[in-house]
Amino acid sequence: MIETNLLLAAGALMLATVTVAGPTKAESFPPIKNQTVKTECGECHMAFFPEMLPRKSWVKILNDLGNHYGEDASIDPAPLKEIIAFHTSRASDVLKSRGARKWREGLKKDEAPDRITTAPRFIRKHKENDYKRMWTKFKVTSNADCVACHKDANKGLFDDD
Ligand code: HEC
Ligand code: HEC
Repeated sequence: MIETNLLLAAGALMLATVTVAGPTKAESFPPIKNQTVKTECGECHMAFFPEMLPRKSWVKILNDLGNHYGEDASIDPAPLKEIIAFHTSRASDVLKSRGARKWREGLKKDEAPDRITTAPRFIRKHKENDYKRMWTKFKVTSNADCVACHKDANKGLFDDD
């Protein structure tokens, strides 16, 4: 979709645009396979990728699910334990993957954002005109609705075409 905008803007320079945009290395995350996480954390919104927040953020968020951004998202102790283990072992400051490393960038020592959408990388990546155009075009009402703009977000794909 972003490419469409580029093409419209570039008009006759279409070929040049394609060449310049080139095959970028898409940002990707391994799809979440843990069934408990998929069920419990994918009920109201897509199950977010643990690599997008540091360990400390997940500990805070997951220990306060009764008061979850205005909703009660509490779950039983057994699944909760599994969910905490899943998130904290894949947090941005724990995992060594490329995705985790990128989401760790820009975080101050001990900084623990309470949202993905307030993390430095999210802010940096969502400033451009393409983002603003999509917000209007798809009538998006929350930044947390990743799927509205990244149609393969559930599969862990956040590339730019
Ligand atoms: C009962 C519904 C519900 C369930 C279940 C739920 N959430 Fe949420 N979650 C919400 C709502 C509502 C928001 C706020 C969305 C917004 O601001 O648009 C939210 C936001 C979030 C955010 C912040 C998104 C942002 O703005 O960056 C994270 C992280 C999150 N949830 C993680 C989880 C995890 C992990 C689980 C599983 C343990 C979970 N949620 C289960 C309703 C739920
Ligand atoms: C209103 C539309 C919109 C929403 C909502 C949105 N994004 Fe984006 N996102 C974009 C645009 C546009 C870009 C810029 C693509 C580029 O880098 O060319 C982008 C870029 C990104 C990138 C960087 C991709 C790369 O390869 O550099 C990531 C990662 C990302 N978004 C994750 C998210 C996550 C996670 C959410 C939900 C919490 C989200 N986005 C919500 C429009 C959106």
